Amino acid sequence: MIVTVANHKGGVGKTALAAHLAFRAAERGNRVLAVDFDAQGNLTGTLVDRSRALKADGAERLFHPDAVPVPMPGLEPNLHVLPASAALNATDRGALSQAFTAIGHLKTLSKDFGFIVIDTAPAIGLRLTTALAASRHLVVPLQLESYAVDGVASLLAEAVSISEHMNPGLAPAEFVINAINPRAKQHASTAKRLSAQFRVRTPHLRRAIAVADALAAKKPVWRNPSNSAVANEWAVLCDELLDTFGVVDWR
Ligand SMILES: Nc1ncnc2c1ncn2[C@@H]1O[C@H](COP(=O)(O)OP(=O)(O)OP(=O)(O)O)[C@@H](O)[C@H]1O
Ligand SMILES: [Mg+2]
Repeated sequence: MIVTVANHKGGVGKTALAAHLAFRAAERGNRVLAVDFDAQGNLTGTLVDRSRALKADGAERLFHPDAVPVPMPGLEPNLHVLPASAALNATDRGALSQAFTAIGHLKTLSKDFGFIVIDTAPAIGLRLTTALAASRHLVVPLQLESYAVDGVASLLAEAVSISEHMNPGLAPAEFVINAINPRAKQHASTAKRLSAQFRVRTPHLRRAIAVADALAAKKPVWRNPSNSAVANEWAVLCDELLDTFGVVDWR
């Protein structure tokens, strides 16, 4: 099962959500592979020791025909990582044939990993095409400021085009509302409008410092419980999504 987390708007919670899905699927007893397609390397920094990542096969190796890259072990049991590297940005200028190479390598890896999550850079390009063409599901975290919502139309158009031309198995996008302020009236009305139009998952995730704190400690927020309501929200949402994806709970 391959899942992509994407939104070409920056800072909306893609990496936070990708990391939490990886943590949760691993806790549920699955062999998990987290693929970092963003040269910023935030997912890599959360899931592995960065100095060790420099010596490992990077995610950009997926785009090379020679061999399937070998994922490195993450800091958690059951969790492996194809880390980011500076070379990733150049892959967006590659040929479509390289996307097909990467899709083939990802499919090969999916025989060995029950759950693969791909964190993407805030850009539309060959890396995003590759991730969507290899995936069964797309998860779109978004924030409720109007400019952040309007921008998803081009991502959805890209997903529809890929499902028509490259990957008929790609399911309709699952939306996750992140960094909500439960007291903001505009957030409540925008969430309602979006939920009428798209598959918006609940619970909505509120803005809370506990999230950034947990990720800085390389842990999911439910294992760093400075705020138990927030911890519960993230655990329930991740289980909802993983259940939808058909990721088994072996516990
Ligand atoms: N619900 C939340 N409450 C508080 N902080 C959050 C929340 N979700 C994410 N963050 C923090 O906000 C910052 C941006 O989140 P994140 O890195 O996940 O976004 P992104 O979409 O991956 O960004 P980019 O487009 O740059 O890759 C991070 O510091 C993260 O820890
Ligand atoms: Mg990110």
